[in-house]
Amino acid sequence: MANNQETVGGAKGMKVAFIGSECYPFIKTGGLGDVMYALPRALLRQGCEVRVMMPCYRCIPEKYRNQMNYIGSFMMNLTQDGRSFYVGIMEMELDGVTYDFIDNREFYDWGNPYTGLWEDIPKYCYFSKASLAALNYMDWIPDVIHCHDWQAALVPVYLRTLFSVTPVGAARSVLTIHNLRFQGICSIDHLKYWTGLPDFLFDYSVFKVNDCEANMFKGGLAYTDRITTVSETYAGEIQTDFYGEGLNSHLWYHRAKLTGIVNGIDIDIWNSRTDKLLPAPYGTEDVLSAKRENKKALQERLGLAVDENKLVIGLISRLTDQKGLDLIDAVFTQIADDGVQVVILGTGDARYENAFRYYESTYPGQVCAYIKYDESLAHQIYAGSDALLVPSLFEPCGLTQLIAMRYGTVPIVRETGGLKDTVEPYNEYTGEGNGFTFDQYRADLLLDAVRRAEQVYYGNRARWNAIVTRDMEKDVSWEHSADLYLKLYEELKG
Ligand code: ADP
Ligand code: GLC
Repeated sequence: MANNQETVGGAKGMKVAFIGSECYPFIKTGGLGDVMYALPRALLRQGCEVRVMMPCYRCIPEKYRNQMNYIGSFMMNLTQDGRSFYVGIMEMELDGVTYDFIDNREFYDWGNPYTGLWEDIPKYCYFSKASLAALNYMDWIPDVIHCHDWQAALVPVYLRTLFSVTPVGAARSVLTIHNLRFQGICSIDHLKYWTGLPDFLFDYSVFKVNDCEANMFKGGLAYTDRITTVSETYAGEIQTDFYGEGLNSHLWYHRAKLTGIVNGIDIDIWNSRTDKLLPAPYGTEDVLSAKRENKKALQERLGLAVDENKLVIGLISRLTDQKGLDLIDAVFTQIADDGVQVVILGTGDARYENAFRYYESTYPGQVCAYIKYDESLAHQIYAGSDALLVPSLFEPCGLTQLIAMRYGTVPIVRETGGLKDTVEPYNEYTGEGNGFTFDQYRADLLLDAVRRAEQVYYGNRARWNAIVTRDMEKDVSWEHSADLYLKLYEELKG
């Protein structure tokens, strides 16, 4: 075990299988990968036995592929016409957590890891069924199977149907919604073909959306024993029209089994004192001087004017509509004309990539648009920026504001989902709070929040520094939320 903290008695012997489509450090495209890494480790510290199951993608780095051991293989029927597919199980252990990779070259030899929905649907139908079959094959029967997002949403359905009289059928299931925008919707025929599931499931209460389409997430939400999502606010929001992505009535119907448990971050990885990627590592006692050094190094690395007195605002994000980038676009010129520096790290929609490239060329030495996925630069931006912008349209939890706070970087966020639950608004009368916030999805309100941050940064540095220290001291670890998951598992185990 990596960590020798004391284990909680009740958790001893609790066996949990995590099933999901990505997991750091093997493959990560967003926060799901972080959660699939950090929560199992937090549960392990509580005394659980944890296995993580994910596809054996070709794009997993060689250094991990070389550490995997072949556990076994078998053929599995999948489709409506009874085609059978190879299922290989590759395994490795990392700090006490066992990782099982479901291997099939036909499905996982290409993609990064996602391609388009048409191909992804067969990939994850196969993955969901193969994961359950692999648990039976390995004779490792968990108490709880914890499934993540639409890619694993078929697991609870298979569990209660085709697998109900097999050993793994004894397990209970939890399905966590990390992002309701992606649901795995396709034609009824396509899903029927690739799942081989019986006709009665293609009903409005399970998969069916309309006369032609079926929805994998919808079916999983109906069949799972418990639904969780990654913040309390988002749990409420998704039962409304605006945030429900068409599943609000379905979720409202199933609300008795829905709870919100806020994410944490792995504070061993996100530790500004031991972070090897930082030019000047730091703790609360030397944060102010170290942040000046990290800012200087960041400005030098990115070709910005080296000036410790400039407010540096970072943005680390997938560049998609979810993240509120149209608001930033609408007021970018005004923000830049205030003289602050802006650093953008992200990839995604061409529309946003190009907009940020344009601002970089318009404001040389003041704006940097780094259109890439780059872990090491992310660490340096979290440490070297003064503020981090997260003005999302919706945000189930959001991890970047948590990492930012841990690194003494003040978040500027919209009050939605997990952003609302984790960033207490700065109170100009008392000086309390963790960051600058705004409520409605309006560009003028975003601009106002940025300007309130500028005022405190330039006009009342003592107050700003107090926010920095308070943010670093805020508990953003997994420990409390891991406890809540454990309680949920215990209730299910009965
Ligand atoms: P989401 O899952 O919606 O993308 P989160 O805030 O939950 O948003 O998680 C995003 C994670 O991905 C964080 O760990 C963040 O640091 C990381 N990240 C996002 N974009 C990049 C990038 N371009 N380079 C490096 N890390 C990134
Ligand atoms: C999703 C959400 C994000 C959340 C992450 C991990 O990708 O967009 O808000 O933090 O999952 O749960």
